[in-house]
Amino acid sequence: DKGEFRHYMMKEIYEQPKVIAACLEGRISDNKVLTDCFGVDSSFLKSVENVHIIACGTSYHAGMVAKYWIEDLANLPCTVEVASEYRYRKVAVPKDTLFLTLSQSGETADTLAALRKAKELGYLTSLAICNVPSSTLVRESALTLLTNAGAEIGVASTKAFTTQLTALLITSIAIASEKEALSAIKEAELVNSMRSLPAHIDEALKQDVAIKKVSDRFANKHNALFLGRGPMFPIALEGSLKLKEISYIHAEAYPAGELKHGPLALVDEDMPIITMVPHNSMLDKLKSNLQEVAARGGELYVFADKDAELQNTEGVIFTEVPKVDEILEPIVHTIPLQLLSYHVAVVKGTDVDQPRNLAKSVTVE
Ligand code: M6R
Repeated sequence: DKGEFRHYMMKEIYEQPKVIAACLEGRISDNKVLTDCFGVDSSFLKSVENVHIIACGTSYHAGMVAKYWIEDLANLPCTVEVASEYRYRKVAVPKDTLFLTLSQSGETADTLAALRKAKELGYLTSLAICNVPSSTLVRESALTLLTNAGAEIGVASTKAFTTQLTALLITSIAIASEKEALSAIKEAELVNSMRSLPAHIDEALKQDVAIKKVSDRFANKHNALFLGRGPMFPIALEGSLKLKEISYIHAEAYPAGELKHGPLALVDEDMPIITMVPHNSMLDKLKSNLQEVAARGGELYVFADKDAELQNTEGVIFTEVPKVDEILEPIVHTIPLQLLSYHVAVVKGTDVDQPRNLAKSVTVE
């Protein structure tokens, strides 16, 4: 039932404050991640020395964000790979590596094949972050953290992604805490930030009308470039995947620092460039990347908080995103990108919930 919404995708975008709260429920206390959130005592994480994350599509992008969190908070090496590559190559597994899969459906053929291969290779243990409790992935993994997003009908993943990120942040903090890489004060700060996530998502959704207006400018576009730095790079990848999936606009994403190494050649007045601007030490670097684009006549769509000091100026279309703690930025910045791709698809008149050539669950290779 789509309720008041025209499409499932929009209904699912708007469900995010509620389902993120459901994902946090029972996993955090006032000041820490609860030790039983993986169904067993989380002390098993003390022996983890490496993390291998395997997934496909949107779930893969969530894994890419987690790499930044795990290396930053837990100081552990983390690699992220698409399942269809992992399953067919010779993989070197360092001692005491955690095998972590991400999947909305828990039925993605390549991800299941990767898990079966991993069991033969010998890992410390396998953990699945998944939305479907009765899925094959959950059944075959040693440990599970459910995302609690509820059924997702739209082919374009929205609430599944932001709940995966929430579950990954819980996992990253749990690992960091068990590895004694995180002080109790810092853990309490992070957990406290997480608790405010549903309210921030609610606030981000308030830009819906403004983003709808912006989307009209994409009616005749055939290409788009997404830029991000740090954990915002995978969010740029996710924004570009969303746009291409449902509006059929060819979109690419690059880490902003790569611009000069090739993609800058694509920039002209016909190329919209979409950037999620984080509020961190990389802000000034990103601003200079944006100037490079503006100097070549590119049309800039900038998503930033109001303190980033980026306003509507010639060639810059600015949309405000709530100011949040740095750790939450990738999750909150996802919302405007979902809204943008949704409204652009509506403007283009495509089948939003059931884009051509795609299936919700990719159960064949
Ligand atoms: O169910 P899974 O998370 O394993 O699915 C993986 C991908 O097929 C999926 O995320 C796909 O990329 C979505 N259509 C993206 O919106």
